[in-house]
Amino acid sequence: MIALHQLQAPMQNAFHTIAGDANARRISILDQTLLPWQAVYRELASLDEAAHAIRSMQVRGAPLIGVTAAFGIALALEASADDAMLAHALATLRATRPTAVNLHWALDSMAAVLRPCNPEARRELAWREAQAIADEDARTNAEIGRHGLALLERLAATGGRVRVMTHCNAGWLATTAHGTALAPIYAAHAAGIEIEVWVSETRPRNQGLLTAWELARAGVPHKVIADNGAGHLLMQGDVDLLIVGADRIAANGDTANKIGTYLKALAAFDCGVAFHVAAPLSTIDWRAADGRAIPIEQRDAAEVRRITGSDEQGRVVEVRLLPESAAVGNPAFDVTPARLIQGFITERGCFTPEQLGRLTPSM
Ligand code: MRU
Repeated sequence: MIALHQLQAPMQNAFHTIAGDANARRISILDQTLLPWQAVYRELASLDEAAHAIRSMQVRGAPLIGVTAAFGIALALEASADDAMLAHALATLRATRPTAVNLHWALDSMAAVLRPCNPEARRELAWREAQAIADEDARTNAEIGRHGLALLERLAATGGRVRVMTHCNAGWLATTAHGTALAPIYAAHAAGIEIEVWVSETRPRNQGLLTAWELARAGVPHKVIADNGAGHLLMQGDVDLLIVGADRIAANGDTANKIGTYLKALAAFDCGVAFHVAAPLSTIDWRAADGRAIPIEQRDAAEVRRITGSDEQGRVVEVRLLPESAAVGNPAFDVTPARLIQGFITERGCFTPEQLGRLTPSM
């Protein structure tokens, strides 16, 4: 079993989010639907299992969705490596979650390598290419951490603790290692900068609890707040900077991220607090001129009607918050306009939205 980047990402300790095993023709994933209460690994051995893991959010976070999809192609080709199966696997995985563009980026990369190659050679190549995408994600995120650290160092130099607010989970759980929004925080913590993180719970799926779990394991001071607490804290002057991840960035810098991100950006703008997006350049959709072109995933009403937690015996249980008949809406992402975003922290450095728009897709 190849455990990805455990050494390069000490914060992960014994955990990996995904690990490909080309010899056994399987992958293993940490099932995030049971976190932060239980850490359970699942073995996936088919296209359908990989697609299910993405759809059900056993794996989640834009970069990790992309990596899982890449391994999903390798799993699919084990059944048959012909053109029809390749086309079927690409279409099946593309349809799993609509907003995170990293999914398409990873599948396009797999398709570009596999389509011209003859079917006999495809299987080995698919495993190698998927592993390369996974490895590249870890390297990219380490660079995001390095560039974001410079930002946090400048804030720390003005004196006192640096208070960062984040939303959802853009930590190592959302990637193969380091995370995106949390990478600068981990780098700052390792560099001895005194840091405190405001973690919003991120209803309805509560990915903020994953962030709190990660930060607790790494010994980074943090407090979990209800989503509604962010505006008050910003107005009180309790936040120095916001850093969030991204699922898709339009060419003009408009950014889709977990639902609730836009309200935080609005409040930060009103309070004069800098709002940053940390993401790999593969999260930019150059074909989307602005945020209106970004498809927003609508998820199952059950996610709003029910909530999952742990009972006193440590069992993961789901309880109802609303009757099954209650009408609900469940948009999973929103778009923060570029005008509310101070900077993008990428593997190539930090950019304003204007500078980002001047980068070329080939960069
Ligand atoms: O629905 P999710 O949990 O996949 O959404 C995750 C987010 O919105 C993250 O902020 C984003 O994918 C960046 S992860 C590095």
